[in-house]
Amino acid sequence: MKPYLSVQHLTKTFEQKKSGTLTAVQGISFSLCCGETLGIVGESGSGKSTLARLITRRIDPTGGTILLDGADITRLKGKALRPVYRSMQMVFQHPAASFDPRRTLGDGIGESLRLSGCSKAETQRRVTRLLADCGLSEAFARRYPHEVSGGECQRAAIARALAGDPAMLICDEATSALDATVQQQILSLLRRLQKERHLSYLFICHNLALVQFFCDRVLVMHDGRIVEEGTPDDILFHPTSDYTKELVEAAF
Ligand SMILES: Nc1ncnc2c1ncn2[C@@H]1O[C@H](COP(=O)(O)OP(=O)(O)OP(=O)(O)O)[C@@H](O)[C@H]1O
Ligand SMILES: [Mg+2]
Repeated sequence: MKPYLSVQHLTKTFEQKKSGTLTAVQGISFSLCCGETLGIVGESGSGKSTLARLITRRIDPTGGTILLDGADITRLKGKALRPVYRSMQMVFQHPAASFDPRRTLGDGIGESLRLSGCSKAETQRRVTRLLADCGLSEAFARRYPHEVSGGECQRAAIARALAGDPAMLICDEATSALDATVQQQILSLLRRLQKERHLSYLFICHNLALVQFFCDRVLVMHDGRIVEEGTPDDILFHPTSDYTKELVEAAF
């Protein structure tokens, strides 16, 4: 399979006023194939979200290379980043954060469509379609973020992420704030969307059971490094690094 995303020796250093230099991501290399679901696990502060922000070019790497569909996107700036932002969309833990509380979900979902020049009628038609694809009726377009449940808001946030027809979603603890039943519903939705749209997923999650259920392959991060890589069964049943062993023991 052809890699959609390939990251080589990626590093990010933050200069912190009081505590000096902190290397949040240290020489990470991996690839993600088209249609694949790659899980990233690791304790709080291990660098998972920093890695997601680097890959999506929300922050600049200190070193290393990011190839997206074969093209080097590491040093792109300004307008040149627009197709990168369109191709890789993020879904966050708190879906309401993806929406302006004063605007309807429909406005939020249609924002990128309007900005790319879609007419009002066409935007409305596509928003209705995106909502339906994510299991929500048309009426949700007129609701505000505080008027829906966490699960419904996450569905709307996924609809928003899909508006620009991305090839990849990066889910950063996207199901962590939801109860177990709703988690399963959102995972089923993501699975169906992946099949229908041939999406690649980077699935950041601290819940090893969910990762086992949902991912094709898993990277274990510790202190900004990848300490282990394998199938969910490898990680859970045959961990090799001491850190992974501790993580698995703590989880089960
Ligand atoms: N903008 C920043 N400036 C300074 N330090 C930062 C910045 N962003 C992240 N860090 C630091 O980088 C390290 C990794 O943070 P990151 O948010 O990537 O962790 P994480 O694995 O996503 O944790 P969690 O599971 O809690 O979300 C932390 O020590 C954090 O304090
Ligand atoms: Mg994080």
